[in-house]
Amino acid sequence: MELSKTDAPLNILVVGLGLIGGSFAASLRDCGENFHLMGFDLRDEYIEEAVSLGIVSEGCDDFESAVSKADVIQISVPMLAMPKVLGQLKGLDLNGKVITDVGSCKGSLVKAAQDIFGQVPENLVPGHPIAGSEKSGVTAAKSGLFKSHKVILTPLENTDPSALSLIRYLWQCCGAQVNAMDVQRHDEVLAMTSHLPHLLAFSLVDTLAGNPENQDIFRYAAGGFRDFTRIAGSDPVMWHDIALGNSDAILASLDQFSEGLVHLRQAIVEKDSKSLLATFERARTARQHFASMLERRAYMATLNENQGDSVTFVAQPGGTLKGELRVPGDKSISHRSIMLGALAEGETIIDGFLEGEDSLATLQAFRDMGVDIEGPHDGRVVIHGVGMQGLKPPVGPLYLGNAGTAMRLMAGLMSAQRFDVTLTGDQSLSSRPMDRVVNPLVEMGAEIETAAGGRPPLKIKGGKSLKGIDYEMPMASAQVQSCLLLAGMYAEGETSATAPGVVRDHTNRMLTGFGYPLKVDNARVSIQGGGQLSSTAIDVPGDISSAAFFIVAATIASGSDLLLTHVGINPTRTGVISILQLMGADITLLNEREVGGELVADIRVRSAILKGIDIPLKLVPLAIDEFPVLFIAAACAEGTTTLRGAAELRVKESDRIQSMVDGLVALGIDAEALVDGMVIRGGRPFCAGTVDSHGDHRIAMAFVIASLRSQGEVRILDCAHVATSFPNFVRLASRAGLTLSTEGIQA
Ligand code: S3P
Repeated sequence: MELSKTDAPLNILVVGLGLIGGSFAASLRDCGENFHLMGFDLRDEYIEEAVSLGIVSEGCDDFESAVSKADVIQISVPMLAMPKVLGQLKGLDLNGKVITDVGSCKGSLVKAAQDIFGQVPENLVPGHPIAGSEKSGVTAAKSGLFKSHKVILTPLENTDPSALSLIRYLWQCCGAQVNAMDVQRHDEVLAMTSHLPHLLAFSLVDTLAGNPENQDIFRYAAGGFRDFTRIAGSDPVMWHDIALGNSDAILASLDQFSEGLVHLRQAIVEKDSKSLLATFERARTARQHFASMLERRAYMATLNENQGDSVTFVAQPGGTLKGELRVPGDKSISHRSIMLGALAEGETIIDGFLEGEDSLATLQAFRDMGVDIEGPHDGRVVIHGVGMQGLKPPVGPLYLGNAGTAMRLMAGLMSAQRFDVTLTGDQSLSSRPMDRVVNPLVEMGAEIETAAGGRPPLKIKGGKSLKGIDYEMPMASAQVQSCLLLAGMYAEGETSATAPGVVRDHTNRMLTGFGYPLKVDNARVSIQGGGQLSSTAIDVPGDISSAAFFIVAATIASGSDLLLTHVGINPTRTGVISILQLMGADITLLNEREVGGELVADIRVRSAILKGIDIPLKLVPLAIDEFPVLFIAAACAEGTTTLRGAAELRVKESDRIQSMVDGLVALGIDAEALVDGMVIRGGRPFCAGTVDSHGDHRIAMAFVIASLRSQGEVRILDCAHVATSFPNFVRLASRAGLTLSTEGIQA
């Protein structure tokens, strides 16, 4: 909704000038729109304060006349005072006005409105900003309190859509991210995530304060106590009202929490180290998982499909790469190590595990199915395997974030379990095709329901018996082949999958490492169902797909000499090196060795003059993830580089052909998209500019590398997903010689 500056101002009345009401008014005052802000409060001094601080331009001491002038009425009073305000509103003419509130419990507000008005008025939009502070009162109010915070609106069936969009718009003017949710769901979620922790903090401080030793306890209280109890400084009236207003959901979450405490207590009594460690470990990683995957991006993406991401990379031009770097562990191998380790008998120890969001999503999914997994601690993960039939039904859908490999491989495994599973992902993953795995799995006897167009979520029925098939894959995809091999372990008879070209073979190597036999006949791989996996040790090499950014960087930045240590050089993955060498790159593999069934080397790269080439078709699947950065190399090469046969790039984390062409053109490069590839006429420097990574980690990192040969600053938008595969990219890139900073939420 647009408000024209020439219109009369929108009159907004804030009823209750506390922290939230005051901050709402202050944020609207500063947003640049044409609003007239009025404030009403029972406490005269709050009204005076709000006027003198300039938070509202009109202080109102008469409720009725204030309401008569208002277009929007924002009720920001404590929960239990809401019915009284609604009651006062009932007698007044509310025609054409929109009413909203900020209460933490929506069920009780809706019930009060029903009781008072007979039915919830169409012009009432229940709302709840998820922001606050332990401080209270109008003096604590601040413009910007809601910036980048979520606001949940809980419209009802009869809510007037234009009222809803006006309130949505006002919150957006405050800089908030607005989501819609069902009333009951809102209350359940908030009981767990906000109300329970507040009650615990209040209770802990109160219990300790009642202890006769309290002087000493508070004198020696450490940081943990401070962190845990900060919120016990919150407004008691507000929390009293919330405790009673959302009592059902709060009691349910308190009961659940108490059960967990009883278990923990029992584990201490019984000196059950295994159980204690498992609880702490699960909690630690769940927290990391949720903090990074849910709070920051995925949560926003799930709740609000249109939500952008706010990490921008800012790369300064020029730089030379020197020294030695070790890139994080291989993503493909990390995913597979969790899956096979979980299903093996015994303890599997993984070193070099990629602590990126994608592989952590896989790890969390197996924890959610009852597997005890310790770590990761500095890349070490210990999995207490449960055996082929030992997975337990998860309590809810398995959320796989951005991870296509996790979803496609797990579709195979989950199709063969005794229980139902739903696999979900973020916005990008939810738009990727899954029919490539669903179709052959269904042929094997699986029952899978997808969203329209064969997209996630995948609802997989348990208790199906699978039969082996002999499948000719329509595309060269390791994910499809691996999915079928994993399903094949559970199927009756033999399952074969033949790829039309070479695909990465980590699954074959790792199955062999876990003692599961399979037959490899060129592109055809076959597996017999009914076998077992025996635990093993896995050393995950550095990911060549991550190293690729620095291989290209050192090649195009003059005067560079860089050593990338312990990089996986599995022959099904080295297309990037072969292509760059054909273009004239100076790349030497040193100290080649085999580590746990995978080839590894140190890679020395010195700068070189590149020339354009026609990329050989047979190298395409061997470099499928590296094309974004190869396009940057091609832009730096003299002459024309042509890529064909790479239509798969269109269905990666973004349409990588279009995303790259758009970005290259924005930076002044002559690049043309083909249906299945690209033509780049290179040799000119990049100009300064802004490109959109479309939330695709590899596009974001590729354009950072372009800055080495740019004439000015390169800004890259929407970069948070870099953490899916390369969590310490900014630090490593800066150490290697790039000048890179971030704006927005830190990656
Ligand atoms: C992967 C296979 C490739 C690759 C992806 C990881 C894997 O996908 O692009 O990043 O780990 O099996 P396709 O199988 O779709 O080619």
